[in-house]
Amino acid sequence: MALKTVDIGSISDFEPGRPRRVIAGGRALMVVRRGLRFFALRDICPHQGAPLSAGKVDGTALPCRPGEEISFGRLGEVLTCPWHGWQFELATGRALIEPERYRVRVYPVRVAGSRVIVQMD
Ligand code: FES
Repeated sequence: MALKTVDIGSISDFEPGRPRRVIAGGRALMVVRRGLRFFALRDICPHQGAPLSAGKVDGTALPCRPGEEISFGRLGEVLTCPWHGWQFELATGRALIEPERYRVRVYPVRVAGSRVIVQMD
């Protein structure tokens, strides 16, 4: 299958850390900028179909043992679904809970000059 690249806008069109819905190649994507790094995931939650672009990029509670203090980490690496709070790793699209079972499709993104380019199939 031939891959095609789609120009989804200028770097400055994307506010760092704020998910944005973009239509590329006829598909709705959720795009997040983190510095000069971009992530593009399908804009639909595998749980019940919420638009992930309405979610929030933040961190998550880190694993700990019973009785240990809960700490928060992975800031900027995790997207939380707006409907029921499932969390997904931006880099892989995998759910933090049951990552082998639930994942969101991820599309490669690169920056070319001042433009943001996503690779679709
Ligand atoms: S629709 Fe995303 S967690 Fe339920």
